[in-house]
Amino acid sequence: MPLPTTTLPSGISVPVLGQGTWKMGERRDRLAQEVAALRLGIELGMTLVDTAEMYASGGAEEVVREAIAGRRDEVFVVSKVLPSNASRAATIRACEASLKRLGTDRIDLYLLHWRGGVPLRETVDAFETLKASGKIGDWGVSNFDVADMQELMALPKGGGVAANQVLYNLASRGIDFDLAPWQHSRGIPVMAYSPVGEGYLAREGRLQIVAERNGATPAQVALAWTLRGEGVIAIPKASQEKHVRDNRAAADIRLTAQDLAELDAAFPPPRRKQPLAMI
Ligand SMILES: NC(=O)c1ccc[n+]([C@@H]2O[C@H](COP(=O)([O-])OP(=O)(O)OC[C@H]3O[C@@H](n4cnc5c(N)ncnc54)[C@H](OP(=O)(O)O)[C@@H]3O)[C@@H](O)[C@H]2O)c1
Repeated sequence: MPLPTTTLPSGISVPVLGQGTWKMGERRDRLAQEVAALRLGIELGMTLVDTAEMYASGGAEEVVREAIAGRRDEVFVVSKVLPSNASRAATIRACEASLKRLGTDRIDLYLLHWRGGVPLRETVDAFETLKASGKIGDWGVSNFDVADMQELMALPKGGGVAANQVLYNLASRGIDFDLAPWQHSRGIPVMAYSPVGEGYLAREGRLQIVAERNGATPAQVALAWTLRGEGVIAIPKASQEKHVRDNRAAADIRLTAQDLAELDAAFPPPRRKQPLAMI
């Protein structure tokens, strides 16, 4: 079964399940395994690969370069600029450095990693300049709450935002109250980071019964839950082949109303506004 896709506001279609790379590129002796895991994921259809200049100080982007070598056009590359580099001039320089490490001439989606001290208007100007020159395809943000999104979208070119990448998993589902429906109604996808709770949900006993009923692992249930709605893209990080295969298979799991009710009982949905969680 091909992976379901979702559509960015620009009309580009991306798979709802991609791959993260945080903590990759930190150790030379793990390079081959990390590259192999990403390649396997790409072969299985998880062609959206998320990285950032921050990860291993550029090392993760270099792992991605190895993984996409010879197959660049099959892959949708997402990278991020640090808030400390988000001024008009520094954003351009940071993007060019990322392109070099990634061994490509285009980043498909370029995100502001989180909000810092630089006025958003400057970063948006830089993103639009990069877009006009073809160095990036789309731009977006990360760790933005509703108020940040509203401020962004009130800027002259702020409506060009293509996605907001935020922490979203069963154990951290505050965005279900406001941000997720807010984005959904505007057609701006949520990119769910840490969908396996940085590995914690793979060991979470409260997922066991639903997992057994679906012939799945707890991690797969966590991923299937994240992908249960429209307009969400999950980007689990997996450096072990088994995890990559399990993650791909999780996209085929359809949780039933009973499964969802049991998961809601164990991980209650937010009943009021919660500050946006981030790691
Ligand atoms: N924008 C932001 O501020 C931000 C913040 C955090 C993360 N992110 C992005 O989101 C990606 C994912 O988040 P994350 O890396 O924090 O956490 P995650 O994907 O929730 O969890 C990764 C951990 O879970 C394990 N794992 C993955 N699939 C599994 C499976 N099927 N069964 C059992 N264990 C499994 C991995 O093990 P192995 O590696 O050993 O396979 C790894 O230890 C990051 O890599 C990064 O690209 C963005």
